[in-house]
Amino acid sequence: MKEKRSNFTGSVGFVLAAAGSAVGLGNLWRFPYLAAQYGGGIFILVYLILAVTFGFTLLITEIAIGRKTKNSSILAYRKIHERFGFLGYLAGLVPLIILPYYCVIGGWVLKYTTVFVTGQGKEAAGDSYFGSFISGTTTPLIYFLIFLTVTMVVILCGVQKGIERVSKFLMPVLLVITLGVCIYEITIPGSGAGIRYYLLPDFSKFSIKTVCAAMGQLFFSMSIAMGIMVSYGSYVKDDVNIGTAVNQIEIFDTVVALLAGFMIVPAVYMFSGEEGLATGGAGLMFITLPKVFDSMPMGGLIGICFFILVLVAALTSAISVMEATVSMLIDRLKISRVKAAATIFVISIVLGIPSSLGNGIWSGILLLGMDFLTFFDYLSNSIIMPLVALGTCILIGWFAGTKVIEDEVTKNGEKFSRLGIYRVMIKYIAPVFMVIILVFYTLAQFGIINY
Ligand code: PHE
Repeated sequence: MKEKRSNFTGSVGFVLAAAGSAVGLGNLWRFPYLAAQYGGGIFILVYLILAVTFGFTLLITEIAIGRKTKNSSILAYRKIHERFGFLGYLAGLVPLIILPYYCVIGGWVLKYTTVFVTGQGKEAAGDSYFGSFISGTTTPLIYFLIFLTVTMVVILCGVQKGIERVSKFLMPVLLVITLGVCIYEITIPGSGAGIRYYLLPDFSKFSIKTVCAAMGQLFFSMSIAMGIMVSYGSYVKDDVNIGTAVNQIEIFDTVVALLAGFMIVPAVYMFSGEEGLATGGAGLMFITLPKVFDSMPMGGLIGICFFILVLVAALTSAISVMEATVSMLIDRLKISRVKAAATIFVISIVLGIPSSLGNGIWSGILLLGMDFLTFFDYLSNSIIMPLVALGTCILIGWFAGTKVIEDEVTKNGEKFSRLGIYRVMIKYIAPVFMVIILVFYTLAQFGIINY
């Protein structure tokens, strides 16, 4: 009896830790604006299909690789097959690229938290408020620096465990508030059109672009194809049922994303019309939610709670991204924790400043036609992560063999559900699909095809 109990606790602890890394700005900020941009319901449908096929396949593979090798990504891939050490390095690049711009967005959340706490929610609901904020020079930079510094201090003081423990209690509260806002929106007369846009797939809006965007979002949101889940997997106890844990993480992450989208996308429709969906872009959450809160009874108070909770979610994810980069440097360069953190801090400032200024005074500087933040987001989500995913599929499907993963997942006699799908996915469908996505995206980016 006792054994069973500790086994259970181990699994819950792992699922919550992995979900804490997974649930963050990807769900609350990135998912809604992509859903708005790529046709609402059709994006949701594509995302869900990808989540149960690709998401499941990659998540279970990475966690199993981690637990089997008991190593973080760089060594783990090499242990599975000696010619695949490079995959670990490639995966390790991703958090390094994501962290700076993640902290820029984290700074935006911090700004909105202070705005609501100081009772300026009404001003924030104004049409040009967000635009003039992010196009500024010093204000967004200061908020970015504060967010980055807090993240680093948490890492250096080793108090992330404490923060994670707090966040476990706060995340359900965030879910309840989100749910409350969704219900409030349903009751607003005229909300139907927006809800239909969000939920009903319109197949005429489907394009390869929808698939590419949904795939990048899947990687980002579930923290896969960047080595992070391999490291998490290496801490999982041998008696944990990986298959069940993967399902729980997937469901949790997807439900939060769907709810966040439900809260934001129909509201954009109501407050800014179809045009708002097309033009909102990365700022969608910050443009729409203040308007929703402004129209709600007790909206000021709800706004305060909401942004504080989003801030906590953003912080826990930023901590997990930074921890990944810092521990990688410690492992590779054998330097102290303080030195590693300082190095990451400097890199983040160097890459974060252009990401922030690209919305304002540096908006004229374009990389492949994108401002800095969009470029870094593109480089990690649309290029490197598909490459890592492709490499992982080839490694398991063609070099090491799926048996390595199957044995690890079924170690204690557990059932590997969807095993048939898994084998076909990792060997054939996923790699072919990744190549198609990479080729299409690259050709489109250079204007060679129009899709
Ligand atoms: N998955 C997290 C989110 O949805 C972001 C993240 C990216 C976390 C990379 C860890 C590593 O916000």
